[in-house]
Amino acid sequence: MGIKIVETSLRDGHQSLFATRMTTEEVVSVAKEIDGAGFHALEVWGGATFDSCLRFLNEDPWERLRKVKEVCPHTKLQMLFRGQNILGYRHYSDDVVDMFVKKSIENGIDIIRVFDALNDLRNLKQAVLSCKKYGGECQIALSYTTSPVHTIEYYVNLAKEIEKLGADSICIKDMAGVLLPQDAYDLVKALKSNTKLPIELHGHCTAGICEMTYFRAIEAGVDIIDCAISPLSNGTAQPSTQAFNSSLRGTKYDPKLDEKALDIASSKLTTIKDKYLKNGLLNPKSLSVNPNILKYQVPGGMLSNLMKQLSDQGAMDKFEDVLKEVPLVRKELGYPPLVTPLSQMVGTQAVLNVITGERYKIVPKEINDYLHGRYGKAPAPITLDETILNRIINNEEVITCRPADLLEPEFESLKEKYKDIAKSDEDVLSLALFEKVATDFLKKKNTIIVNKEDQVIEFNLVIGG
Ligand code: CO
Repeated sequence: MGIKIVETSLRDGHQSLFATRMTTEEVVSVAKEIDGAGFHALEVWGGATFDSCLRFLNEDPWERLRKVKEVCPHTKLQMLFRGQNILGYRHYSDDVVDMFVKKSIENGIDIIRVFDALNDLRNLKQAVLSCKKYGGECQIALSYTTSPVHTIEYYVNLAKEIEKLGADSICIKDMAGVLLPQDAYDLVKALKSNTKLPIELHGHCTAGICEMTYFRAIEAGVDIIDCAISPLSNGTAQPSTQAFNSSLRGTKYDPKLDEKALDIASSKLTTIKDKYLKNGLLNPKSLSVNPNILKYQVPGGMLSNLMKQLSDQGAMDKFEDVLKEVPLVRKELGYPPLVTPLSQMVGTQAVLNVITGERYKIVPKEINDYLHGRYGKAPAPITLDETILNRIINNEEVITCRPADLLEPEFESLKEKYKDIAKSDEDVLSLALFEKVATDFLKKKNTIIVNKEDQVIEFNLVIGG
């Protein structure tokens, strides 16, 4: 059997290249062309798309999902799900996670890819249980990073635990694009010989090595690769779907995708991409190879965030110092993989350490919570200077249990809280994740404006009056 391909242009592609701004209309127009193209799945939802719909596009993310499902009756739809954080930025109680999974599957998702920034599987347990309960396919992603503790043995042990947890497949999630070809070969071989689960590889081309890495992974027996249709491939996104479809043609790995469908989708995506190039949301810099990724082991998005924070402070001359500070902070925090939200947290701490001139003089709330165990277990022991650590812990309890065990069920109280704005459980979930933007969106959505003799009267369908 050939290699299976998951098409990512409609989620990660535009998230990586132009800040997740593709509209539902654009997504649907492409999705319908590739429904019959032979993909293993289309990644179309989750990640930052949910937030972006509400915040920037004035769209209902649930409606996007239903519309895509409608035009894709033949292909599985996939989403990216941040474990106990769902698609938001805090830990949610188990019943909210359960309801979100239920509604995602009900509205059209087939495969849920869950990951935790710390690879703390306790943060994924509820999402996995719910996914199985509602008949979804559950994939657990290993957040890939390099450090003295992130050895092949570490990932193999994690994979065995993932298998026990009941996942249907495993993804190696290389969000920074730092997985080297030979390391990928060795990792895939080791995972294949220690678990029965299918292995998928998700990479980014930012450092210019991703195609080579995919090729070695294929030779090692990887089952599925994540690619994006050409106009939305490469740069900070995934390798090109067509490049792999052509390169593997006639071999035992042949993905056998329908080229004609890919051509049509490509031409639509070219028009869409040109629009974002023109309006500036797609920075041509995102399309070229960035050698600093491999040098500093820092994801591309994090590099641009650091630059922005420094230039806001008028401190761009400190950029090199901050880049040297990042690995130090990461080491002291127990080598967390640099993925959302840890990438932002480690980056901000590094910037603060450098610009204040005193390390950990200012500690953001998130880092404080992390050191209290509220994000889960760090991959390696915390090695922060004891005086600094004691000052931050401040004699408070450091938790070692699963963080969500401390949360009371909250869905019913959220439903009560939002009863004036929410018309469905989906609305409640949108509000639970992004209260402010979802409130604004739902108020607008449920309001009809009647223009009568120059008098504008607003009717809010839910709140009344
Ligand atoms: Co990605």
